[in-house]
Amino acid sequence: MNKTVVLELCDLKKSFKVATTNEIKIFEKIHLSLKSSELVGIIAPSGTGKTSLLNISGLLDQATGGSVRILGQDTKTMTAEKRNLIRRNHIGFVFQSSNLLNEFNAVENVALSRIIKGYNFHDSLDYSRKLLSKVGLEERLHNRPLELSGGEQQRIAICRAIANDPQLLLADEPTGNLDQENSTLVFDLLVSMVKQKKVSALVATHNLDLIRKMDRVLKLTKTGLVSI
Ligand SMILES: Nc1ncnc2c1ncn2[C@@H]1O[C@H](COP(=O)(O)OP(=O)(O)O)[C@@H](O)[C@H]1O
Ligand SMILES: [Mg+2]
Repeated sequence: MNKTVVLELCDLKKSFKVATTNEIKIFEKIHLSLKSSELVGIIAPSGTGKTSLLNISGLLDQATGGSVRILGQDTKTMTAEKRNLIRRNHIGFVFQSSNLLNEFNAVENVALSRIIKGYNFHDSLDYSRKLLSKVGLEERLHNRPLELSGGEQQRIAICRAIANDPQLLLADEPTGNLDQENSTLVFDLLVSMVKQKKVSALVATHNLDLIRKMDRVLKLTKTGLVSI
């Protein structure tokens, strides 16, 4: 087992059965080795399968074929419970829309992922306040998501994604709903957080300006990931 590989996709394939006879092939022959602290961008037109690939990598969905190894463990034969544990303890997600919980304020939204992992309640709140202050939200700690702008919500979502100290961060078009100025701000923040915390990240984006900030960029095609 190579300990420096955080996520390993081997010969991954995804297809959907839409009717009894119809199979839609999304992609096949996907190979990827994401190393410790590596920042990899995934680029492809809409509908190619970026979300499917990230969801499979984050154990939110299952592949039709091939394998997903996380921190050296093959996830195929794992129980649902074990998969949940890996997600909770080792993976952080950032989605296109923030998916924050509207009934909780910014600090609580961030702290929750740390509390669920098993950290102390009050320490988690304290940690979350500090994290949010680092991303310029010290004046917004007690606001709920609906009282905040899209850019602010995504900054909270990034803090939430890393609050459980994950080894793997998966971001699915994290700036897709933001204007250019906020896109750059949020993306820079994501990159600096990932580097600071030494997290490995797989980030899908359409934005060519942003993707240049990654260590390497791969294009997703129907028949594999291609370096660009
Ligand atoms: N549950 C599903 N059933 C059938 N087709 C699906 C399902 N989910 C996604 N797809 C199809 O898979 C393809 C890839 O989708 P997606 O992974 O969301 O791509 P992207 O994120 O690159 O836009 C699309 O053609 C989409 O319609
Ligand atoms: Mg998508």
